[in-house]
Amino acid sequence: MSLSQVLPEVPPAERAPDAAWADEVRALAERRNAVVLAHNYQVPAIQDVAHHVGDSLALSRIAAAADADTIVFCGVHFMAETAKILAPDKTVLIPDARAGCSLADSITADELRAWKAEHPGAVVVSYVNTTAAVKAETDVCCTSSNAVEVVESIPADREVLFLPDQFLGAHVRRVTGRENMHVWAGECHVHAGINGAELTAKAEADPDAELFVHPECGCATSALYLAGAGAVPAERVKILSTGGMLDEARETRAKSVLVATEIGMLHQLHRAAPEVDFRPVNDRASCTYMKMITPEALLRSLRDGTDEVHVDPELAARGRAAVQRMIEIGRPGGGE
Ligand code: 13P
Ligand code: SF4
Repeated sequence: MSLSQVLPEVPPAERAPDAAWADEVRALAERRNAVVLAHNYQVPAIQDVAHHVGDSLALSRIAAAADADTIVFCGVHFMAETAKILAPDKTVLIPDARAGCSLADSITADELRAWKAEHPGAVVVSYVNTTAAVKAETDVCCTSSNAVEVVESIPADREVLFLPDQFLGAHVRRVTGRENMHVWAGECHVHAGINGAELTAKAEADPDAELFVHPECGCATSALYLAGAGAVPAERVKILSTGGMLDEARETRAKSVLVATEIGMLHQLHRAAPEVDFRPVNDRASCTYMKMITPEALLRSLRDGTDEVHVDPELAARGRAAVQRMIEIGRPGGGE
């Protein structure tokens, strides 16, 4: 028996993202008149080569205003779908269409229709981390950087259905004090896994550190509890979107910051404030979906025009107003 019959097949090694790779990416993008957008959770090489890096709100606004023929979205599928809804005449590519999102999968359009039937007249606020079919059933979308402003823009006497993230929903309810807001019990497996016990242990070991916490985190409530109990001064606890973390990093006077979100974020934080010691609360908090967008896949996407993102035109038309309202509300996000 030969060795190749015994050993499992090993996929060919990915080409290292060196300077020649970056030159090729830029040259192919120019040839296609493409703009490359990267979310803050992408691998560092992709963040560095992209034309724009940002949070989901900033990247949606950039996609809507882009004058390139093609948008290459280095992020997850709902982000590329949102770009297609906002820019239906452009070609939108995602380097690997399998890059999904566990949070977007936590509610279907059928489930939303059933929930709406239980609350006739309620205003539906959907996080951008949803499928196009769910957006088509939505009144207004939001991202983590403008969720509070979006909910505040709804008349106080109207019932609100907020979906699908329970931790972001709890954060919005806490800040707005809104009682007539119902929250779907969905979660992101990466952020839900960053728990309060880990955060408390790290905060106690470094009492001078600031805490940057993404509102999708399971530990957001613990962070505020720590502040409320005086374990961490309240002004050191910041609940922020990924773009908000970057703005705050540029302003902070802290020597060290504990970061509760996906670890791809640390690359932009180090770039924004190299003198600050940014440390992850959970260094295993890596989103497998975001990391499916590899340097090799980006090259292939630009070379072969893969994977093209299509949104059913009827669904896109029904979801467009909700997404458009989202990009009109809230201050500019990181990356714009
Ligand atoms: P931001 O809107 O803060 O970029 O977050 C997007 C996301 O998917 C968080 O997991
Ligand atoms: Fe979705 Fe969570 Fe990954 Fe963000 S980190 S893309 S919410 S699975």
